[in-house]
Amino acid sequence: MTSRSRAMSFNAAADRYAAYRPSYPSELFDAVEELTRIPLAGARVADVGAGTGISTEQLVARGADVIAVEPGEGMAAWFRKTLPDVPLVRGDANALPLADGCRDLLTYAQSWHWTDPQRSVPEALRVLRPGGSLVIWWNTTAHDVPWIAEQTERITRHTGATSPTLSPLGDPDAVRKAGLEGLRIGRRHLRWSRTVPLDTHLGNLASHSGFLVMDDAATEAFLDAERERLRLLFPDERVVETYVVDLWVASSS
Ligand SMILES: C[S@@+](CC[C@H](N)C(=O)[O-])C[C@H]1O[C@@H](n2cnc3c(N)ncnc32)[C@H](O)[C@@H]1O
Repeated sequence: MTSRSRAMSFNAAADRYAAYRPSYPSELFDAVEELTRIPLAGARVADVGAGTGISTEQLVARGADVIAVEPGEGMAAWFRKTLPDVPLVRGDANALPLADGCRDLLTYAQSWHWTDPQRSVPEALRVLRPGGSLVIWWNTTAHDVPWIAEQTERITRHTGATSPTLSPLGDPDAVRKAGLEGLRIGRRHLRWSRTVPLDTHLGNLASHSGFLVMDDAATEAFLDAERERLRLLFPDERVVETYVVDLWVASSS
C-alpha cells in the first residue's frame, strides 16, 4: 500500500468523512491568531488539503477570506456541494496552484503529513507574503485516556497504520521530522472533548485511511467487536472522545 493510495483513499468516503470526523475547538483559532499575530477576520488564507471543508468552514466563520486547495476529486466534489461560495482549486501542497506572495496564512488541517516537506515548505514560502505563516494542526487522540490508548493499539494491530501522534513541545527532533528546520516555530497543545453517539464514534474510526484501504468485511468485524467493548464502557452509547490538538505555526522571519 503506497502513501499516495492512502492519501487519496478519502475520496471514496467523503460522505462518511464529513458526517463523522470531529471539527476543531474555537480555542484553536484564538491560538492561531495569537501565534501568527494575524487576525483571521480579513486574512487571506489558503486552506491546503481542505477535504470536505471542515477546517475551511471554521476559518470562514472567523471572517477569513479563504481559498481551498484539494487534490482529491471526491473530497473536492463534497466541498463544492457544502461550501458553494468558497473558491476551491484542485491542486497539491507540493506544487501549489497559487501566485507568489498572495496569502497571509496557509493552513494544513490534518494534511501536512501527506505532503513532502522538501517540496511543500518551499512552495508555502513562495505563496506566503513576507511575514506570513504556515499553520499546521492535527486532532491527535488523547493517549493518556486508558480506553483510547487501548483502542489505538488495537487499531494499529488491525490496520498496520498509525495516525499522527502528539509530539512534545520544544522537541528539536519533532521539528526535523515535520520538515520545518530553519523556520521560526510557535507551538500549542489544546485539549478538548466531544460526546457523540456510539455509531458516530465508529464511523469516525472507519473514516481513517488505515481502514479505508482495507477490505470492508475486515473493517465491519473490527467495528462490531469495538461496539461490544464500548457498550460496556458507555452503556448509554454516548462516547466521550478526547483530543489534543497539536498546533504548529512556522514562518521564515
Ligand atoms: C485528513 S483530510 C483533512 C481534511 C480537512 N483539512 C479537515 O480538516 O477535515 C486530509 C486531506 O489532505 C488531502 N491531501 C492528501 N495529499 C495531499 C497533498 N499532497 N497536498 C494537499 N492535500 C493533500 C486529502 O485529499 C484529504 O482531503
